[in-house]
Amino acid sequence: MSDSVVITDVGPRDGLQNQRKVLSIEQRLSLVQAIADAGVPQIEVGSFVSPKAVPAMAGTDDLFAQLDEQGFATPTIALIPNMKGYELARAAGASTVSMVLYASDGMAQKNVGMSMTEAEQVTEEILQLANGDGIEVIATVAVAFACPFDGATDPALTEKIVDKFIHAGADQVVLADTIGAADPQQVRALTSALVAQHGASQLGCHFHDTRAMGLANVFAALESGIRRFDSSIAGLGGCPFAPGASGNVATDDIAMMLQQMGFETGIDLQKLLQASDLAQELTGTAPGGRAKAWLQNHLLKQAS
Ligand code: COA
Ligand code: ZN
Repeated sequence: MSDSVVITDVGPRDGLQNQRKVLSIEQRLSLVQAIADAGVPQIEVGSFVSPKAVPAMAGTDDLFAQLDEQGFATPTIALIPNMKGYELARAAGASTVSMVLYASDGMAQKNVGMSMTEAEQVTEEILQLANGDGIEVIATVAVAFACPFDGATDPALTEKIVDKFIHAGADQVVLADTIGAADPQQVRALTSALVAQHGASQLGCHFHDTRAMGLANVFAALESGIRRFDSSIAGLGGCPFAPGASGNVATDDIAMMLQQMGFETGIDLQKLLQASDLAQELTGTAPGGRAKAWLQNHLLKQAS
């Protein structure tokens, strides 16, 4: 397997939204910059959600303004939960939004007070607007494998949602294992079916490492042909509205694994570790990924 994989670091959004400590805009900016300096090709820098619901994401419009002012070159993504989120993201100059869809009503209600179907309707409206606005839309299917409220997700439901939004014009569709409950066998079955139907170029996966199956799930999806993955610097992450969700697969771990397997990621591991250290310093809680200690020793040896 020798080709390239596109990593999106979602730490500045998925990671920081779940921290007790709320970072300042300057601190969030420094984390985004450190991740970009490491060559990560895409960064989900924040979300446009109610600051009452997620105080850590307040001020994402300021963050966008500052990135713009600096001529920030790495492609950025803003997560949105509804039409108001879309309007705020557009006003802030976002060029790509990730709109959240749901494979369960329980999660849709808890996260945004909508049904699955209502979230789908809003997404269809957003797709139409975005088409005219020149904004790319990623449709992220939350609880694509399991829901903390409604239990296991029927793969046929996830397949139906993916199919609907690829045909509705989403630029990409991402399967999110919001609570990190999927296993590699499930991932292989669902991703291989989806790749057979739609090809891999528009599909991505977003895994959490709650049950230590994150990297195994990445591998299962890779074998199905998926080449886009979300991960989080230092393994930060989780959803405040999904009980039991812990950090995303760490960018530190996935970047190391992919490079060792011969995939191109564009990521400089040495600089990535600096971003990982910064995430740890800023939050005080970043787990750091499981490969970090080994990577630090290995890179030190190489340097000496
Ligand atoms: N961004 C900022 N503010 C928003 C918003 C958005 N995307 N959508 C709604 N609001 C505001 C409303 O204008 C309203 O403001 P007001 O109190 O000043 O009038 C307030 O939020 C409440 O809106 P309402 O429509 O009554 O909804 P709610 O209280 O049920 O909250 C959401 C709904 C969607 C705003 C809220 O649940 C939310 O932000 N959820 C996102 C959760 C999240 O980020 N999850 C993790 C990522 S998947
Ligand atoms: Zn997540």
